[in-house]
Amino acid sequence: MSDAVRIRLAGLNAGYNGQPVVSDLDLEVREGEMHGLFGTNGAGKTTTLLTIAGAVKPLGGTLELNGRKHPGSLYKAAKQEGLALLTDDRGIFPPLSVRDNLRLGRGSIDRAIGFFPELQEHLGRRAGLLSGGQQQMLALARILAAEPRVILADELSLGLAPLIVARLVQALRAAADEGAAVLLVEQHVPVALGAVDRASVLVRGRIVLQEDAAELRNSPNRIMDLYLTNAA
Ligand SMILES: Nc1ncnc2c1ncn2[C@@H]1O[C@H](COP(=O)(O)OP(=O)(O)OP(=O)(O)O)[C@@H](O)[C@H]1O
Ligand SMILES: [Mg+2]
Repeated sequence: MSDAVRIRLAGLNAGYNGQPVVSDLDLEVREGEMHGLFGTNGAGKTTTLLTIAGAVKPLGGTLELNGRKHPGSLYKAAKQEGLALLTDDRGIFPPLSVRDNLRLGRGSIDRAIGFFPELQEHLGRRAGLLSGGQQQMLALARILAAEPRVILADELSLGLAPLIVARLVQALRAAADEGAAVLLVEQHVPVALGAVDRASVLVRGRIVLQEDAAELRNSPNRIMDLYLTNAA
């Protein structure tokens, strides 16, 4: 594995209206690496991703992409550093056809279809008529086709069937294997743990556990215990 650090947080604080909701975050994701970010509702997972994306301004600490200071906005991070943010709202355009949705992406349609070949037969359909799982495949295919260097995925499997979740996670794993740095927020902890290299658990805005996934796969209850002891 290469040593290039694509995402680096050191002592990062972030929140809203000057009030931190995540504090003292230390986290690195390297090229070719996939990192799972877990935690109960309200722990600060989305805030962390939005801060890395440039949509929430840090309140302190260090935030770097590809070894450089964060350019300061989602638009610039996408353009200059190859960052892609994938959220559970799918980010597709429902009135447009699947083909036109893919055309709006920065990669080729053929490459996008390669990730989820079942999209082929739906190219002419309105994206809004696809099932939830198919819509998320479309959103992910469009993003992956552009070969992003940094991928932030926030609960992309919300409300989807387990089989689809596994496929979405595997597609992200494949992107990591091709060199992307992936930070994955996922409620299906066992599925995610099977695919990530490292994982962090956030409790009330702080990382309380950060370890290689191989260790955590051997003791799956440790994450659940943290959830239970810190349940609201
Ligand atoms: N725009 C906002 N303004 C003020 N507070 C916010 C805002 N967005 C989130 N928060 C607060 O920040 C805290 C962390 O929220 P966040 O959405 O990051 O959690 P999460 O871990 O993603 O939760 P979930 O699992 O429910 O998605 C919560 O207390 C939430 O109420
Ligand atoms: Mg969230």
